[in-house]
Amino acid sequence: MFPPGFRFGAATAAYQVEGAASEDGRGPSIWDTFSHTPGRVANGDTGDVACDHYHRWREDLDLMARLGVESYRFSIGWPRVQPDGRGAPNRRGVDFYRQLVDGLLERGIEPVATLYHWDLPQALQDAGGWAERDTCERFAEYAGLMAAELGDTVSAWITHNEPWVVSILGYVTGDKAPGDRDWGLGLRVAHHVLLSHGLAVPVLRAGTPDVPVGITMNLSPVWAESDADRDAAARMDGHLNRWYLDPVLRGSYPPDMVAVYGSTGFVQDGDLATISAPIDFLGVNYYSPARVRAGTELPLRAERVPGPGTPTAMGWEVNADGLHELLVRLRADYGEIPIHITENGAAYDDPPPSGGAVDDPERLDYLRTHLGAVARAIADGVDVRRYFAWSLLDNFEWEHGYAKRFGIVHVDFETQERTAKSSALWYRDFIAGQRGD
Ligand code: FCB
Repeated sequence: MFPPGFRFGAATAAYQVEGAASEDGRGPSIWDTFSHTPGRVANGDTGDVACDHYHRWREDLDLMARLGVESYRFSIGWPRVQPDGRGAPNRRGVDFYRQLVDGLLERGIEPVATLYHWDLPQALQDAGGWAERDTCERFAEYAGLMAAELGDTVSAWITHNEPWVVSILGYVTGDKAPGDRDWGLGLRVAHHVLLSHGLAVPVLRAGTPDVPVGITMNLSPVWAESDADRDAAARMDGHLNRWYLDPVLRGSYPPDMVAVYGSTGFVQDGDLATISAPIDFLGVNYYSPARVRAGTELPLRAERVPGPGTPTAMGWEVNADGLHELLVRLRADYGEIPIHITENGAAYDDPPPSGGAVDDPERLDYLRTHLGAVARAIADGVDVRRYFAWSLLDNFEWEHGYAKRFGIVHVDFETQERTAKSSALWYRDFIAGQRGD
């Protein structure tokens, strides 16, 4: 069972749903540049139009209200409110988010705002982006601005979404914007992203003392394939999880991983004290566990292997027990921090809508079993307070474009028509059941 104050929500991110890429003074972000670079995104897709949520937000909020969704995690597009990533706000951009949060509140839905879901203003990238410490100052300025503009209305702030993805997939593997391939750069970026979080926390607190502040990390339990793979699994755990959790929640980088990575010359005196500013909750995005065996590639000498069972359309293993294990482990290793599951969900190749319905039994089952895992973790004493399904809508799934559908609501990208899938209708009934309706 879920405690009475628990909130069931749905999540999106600005670049994935808004579209209106060059309207009302919005500046370009690294994702505009990346998606418009041939070969970077499947089918040459871009976020230029996406779900057209920028124009259709009222309809989308009404849909959420009909589903009984209690909390909406959205992200603020930094280049919409500061087109160059610095200075005075772009009023029309701010007004969009103001209307959005007011619209949520009118419908009795909590607004939960993420400040950075990967859309760095291109102007900041041109000045060096996250490789530069100055970008941390810019982020803190942006956070202060949003606290002043929206702070009286949001229910929670999330500084960053998934620093591991930002730094490793953006700067080491090159799968995501800006598409670099350099370990040293990736680790520097990771540090600066964490530092910017630490700088933003006191700014948000000063601006909005009553609004809880957290950060969202993508986390996975790491399982060794055999006893011989245990060291490799420990390195993978350090790489995926502890490199982010430890600085934020303990004020230090894990020494075993400092040894694996080598130089951490980008860390300056006082940085870790800044990064470990107390937070009110930890946001956890969970999709899949990581199964690992020893490998040869430096620096990790560890590689991921597929798990059993039918994977999702992303090729990701479905394993709800992994979420339970992760939550219990977080409490054991990092103490009593409240947790919000800020993303959880699955992509499947859904059939097209037929008669106003989309049957998605695999996604329904995914949500059902993972909510069950959250309930078990709560019964085991983990303080989980919110759950957000990823995603409200089928949307621009980064380098996969529109080919991977995570929505509980189907979007026809030709007509922009929305159709609630059976998973959404199940979620509606589940939430209503929790409320005793
Ligand atoms: C997460 C992202 C989110 C979405 C899901 C599938 O890494 O935060 O935007 O792409 O994966």
